[in-house]
Amino acid sequence: MQVVTIIILLFFSQAADLRKTRNGNSRKKANNRKASGLGKASSTVKRFTPNPPCDIYTSLFEKYLDCQERKLTFVLPEWPEDLKHMLLAQNSIRKLKNNMFSKFQKLKSLDLQQNEISKIEDQAFWGLNKLTTLLLQHNKLKVLSEEVFIYMPFLTYLRLYDNPWQCNCQMESLITMLQLPRNRNLANYAKCVYPAELKGQKLKLIQVEQICGEKVGPQPVPKPEITRPEFDSSLCHMYVFPVQTLDCRRKDLKKVPSNIPPDTVKLDLSNNKITLLRPKEFEEIDDLKVLNLSSNGIIHIDPAAFVGLINLEELDLSNNSLQNVEYGVLEHLYFLKILRLRENPWSCDYNIHYLFYWLKHHYNVHYNGLECRKPEEYKGWLVRKYVRSYFEECPKDKLPIYPDKFDDNETEEPTPKHSVIVTVID
Ligand SMILES: *[C@@H]1O[C@H](CO)[C@@H](O)[C@H](O)[C@H]1NC(C)=O
Ligand SMILES: *[C@@H]1O[C@H](CO)[C@@H](O)[C@H](O)[C@H]1NC(C)=O
Ligand SMILES: *[C@@H]1O[C@H](CO)[C@@H](O)[C@H](O)[C@H]1NC(C)=O
Repeated sequence: MQVVTIIILLFFSQAADLRKTRNGNSRKKANNRKASGLGKASSTVKRFTPNPPCDIYTSLFEKYLDCQERKLTFVLPEWPEDLKHMLLAQNSIRKLKNNMFSKFQKLKSLDLQQNEISKIEDQAFWGLNKLTTLLLQHNKLKVLSEEVFIYMPFLTYLRLYDNPWQCNCQMESLITMLQLPRNRNLANYAKCVYPAELKGQKLKLIQVEQICGEKVGPQPVPKPEITRPEFDSSLCHMYVFPVQTLDCRRKDLKKVPSNIPPDTVKLDLSNNKITLLRPKEFEEIDDLKVLNLSSNGIIHIDPAAFVGLINLEELDLSNNSLQNVEYGVLEHLYFLKILRLRENPWSCDYNIHYLFYWLKHHYNVHYNGLECRKPEEYKGWLVRKYVRSYFEECPKDKLPIYPDKFDDNETEEPTPKHSVIVTVID
């Protein structure tokens, strides 16, 4: 009886606490879900119970529990058993106890990132035999054995990075498991933090002899540590469904935040105050598909700014202060499909040619908004028309043949990208 009372009290105090911080927040969240398309698909969006205030909703016929940022320390027994997705990011869970999730045998994904988990008991995931996605990044795990994963035969997506991994012999079974060819998508970014000589090495690449071999000779002198500062997760909102999204809109950011989690798929930096894009701003975010930089006042993009964004499909540069795009800027974007360029003061002089020719040669990239604003004589012209007139004024140069419908929507057969070298015409 006493225990029950204590638990009830705990909920009340938690809920009270949360209401203070969350009142402004939950609306934003709801909006965000709408923005991401989930809201539309939801058939029910309702408050679960007043205490604790978790959201339960159905999207595409699957039931979600969104209990992120609730200061939770454990899983509540009254949550419905037919949940498919459990979002518990940014709570205060410290330990995953045996059978903690055994009630939720339908779960497909479990998001436990950004908690304080330092211990996972061997049977913590018992019963989760449908689970495919498990997010444990950004916790306090030091060692873990393969055993905890044996209850999840269909696990295909596991994140373990940003944990202080102690690469010693206790990790042997986990490291061996991660290195099996069929597990090539599990825990790709997790790195050792200790011992010093293995710091920064990926678990995937550690050789078992390195951690279980006998130490001979003097210990190497530890090098001064260069710690990778962690992403400040209070800065932006992070969403996991439907894709890993970092929402940093309207945060008065003057530069691109550092250490963006490498598995971010959508990054929204719109409506900030980023005026320059420096080299390699996005280098480690290999998974990024959508990057929104609109409404920032960007004046200049370094040619190496987009290095590493090989999977980027959509780039929104609209409503900035760009007059042209320097040679090289777009060369890293092998899989770009959509480029938004509206509302920039594009200046129709020789410097705009690179952008124009890049788009011409990558004609499966859809773009919009490439219109001259300067100089006065070309104001309002499509850049295409300006470039054409440029050649008409130089009759010695052969006028290139442009497809008539070289426009916002290109639908010609795709050719391998980067197969054509951009011709710089003088
Ligand atoms: C980028 O952000 C702006 C403003 O927040 C929004 O209107 C636009 O649709 C976004 N672009 C993409 C590609 O999501
Ligand atoms: C364009 O960006 C400015 C700030 O640079 C902002 O005040 C304005 O609302 C934006 N316009 C649109 C249409 O988003
Ligand atoms: C461009 O494509 C969109 C959607 O694919 C379509 O709605 C629009 O009519 C197209 N515009 C032109 C000019 O073809």
